Amino acid sequence: MKALVLSGGAGTRLRPITHTSAKQLVPVANKPVLFYGLESIRDAGITDVGIIVGETAEEVKAAVGDGSALGIKATYIPQDAPKGLAHAVLIAKDFLGNEPFVMYLGDNFLLGGITDLVNDFSKGNAEAQILLTKVPNPKQFGIAVLDDKGNVKTLVEKPKDPPSDLALVGVYMFRPKIHDAVRAIKPSGRGELEITDAIQWLVDQGHTVKPHLVTGYWKDTGRLEDMLECNRAVLETLDASNEGTIDSESKLIGRVVIEKGAEIIRSTVSGPAIIGKNTKLIDTYVGPYTSIYNDCLLEKNEIENSIILENTSIRNVGRIEGSLVGKEVEISGTSDQPKAHKLMLGDHSKVVISK
Ligand code: G1P
Repeated sequence: MKALVLSGGAGTRLRPITHTSAKQLVPVANKPVLFYGLESIRDAGITDVGIIVGETAEEVKAAVGDGSALGIKATYIPQDAPKGLAHAVLIAKDFLGNEPFVMYLGDNFLLGGITDLVNDFSKGNAEAQILLTKVPNPKQFGIAVLDDKGNVKTLVEKPKDPPSDLALVGVYMFRPKIHDAVRAIKPSGRGELEITDAIQWLVDQGHTVKPHLVTGYWKDTGRLEDMLECNRAVLETLDASNEGTIDSESKLIGRVVIEKGAEIIRSTVSGPAIIGKNTKLIDTYVGPYTSIYNDCLLEKNEIENSIILENTSIRNVGRIEGSLVGKEVEISGTSDQPKAHKLMLGDHSKVVISK
């Protein structure tokens, strides 16, 4: 069996982070979202992985490389524009050949992995099997309706009037008939070849499409709130460890991970939280659900429920909460007059100042 992982797309809902970075590479608990998916695939026993890349191809390649560090063999498949999930299958035909495969959307996060789904599919003879979960907001997803035997009967992409609350989670199992399906369908109203249409084609041709219900935590990490929620869920699963240095005036409370070379000076870290490699905390309080990535400097602040990317410095700014801060950002406080905010922000930045 092979895997096809989608790691293209523009990530507009996570701007400005995605102006310079692939959305699939935003770290959750100091590990890119994409890596969790690749590890789940490997843990299910699949090592031959095709990765669809778009505008951010170079960055994805730099992060994943040949895949050996993650225990997989990565093959990159360029997609010239985000033309839809079924289009990704279309252009991956040479890589996929006639083998069954799992398709995994690289920005989707599944805490329980995919081993059960892969085993379930391998044992059966359905032409496709799709992961489904009940959601409170079905208008934002592909939605499935099941027949009285429990097989998939109808699929609709982002319906105005949802016929059920069973959403398609971004993991799909296919046998080779899907290649006929993606060739038979036409682009949707939004101009994309929809995978939901391709799966509907399979059903309409009389093939069996089975559901597999997700029981564990799942999130499509498209927006800031989703990233923070996902970060909280993963931090809850970490065990405390310390590979850094902590001075006698600092305190670690609860489950805290201190990575190699990190220095904690006159600071308090209240877990669950993770402090990245070579990051320095000075006179700082880090509250629960915070991930600070590598090579950061935080001095004289309080920070909680946030994700900070690498090489960023934050000094003298008081308290930060519910924030996602990109790479190499500098945030500092001053008592100089006039008392004013001085900003240099990239396009599509969002700042909320407390008054
Ligand atoms: C895609 C699929 C949709 C699915 C969702 C899961 O939507 O088209 O059917 O429910 O992923 O994350 P998109 O993220 O492209 O809006």
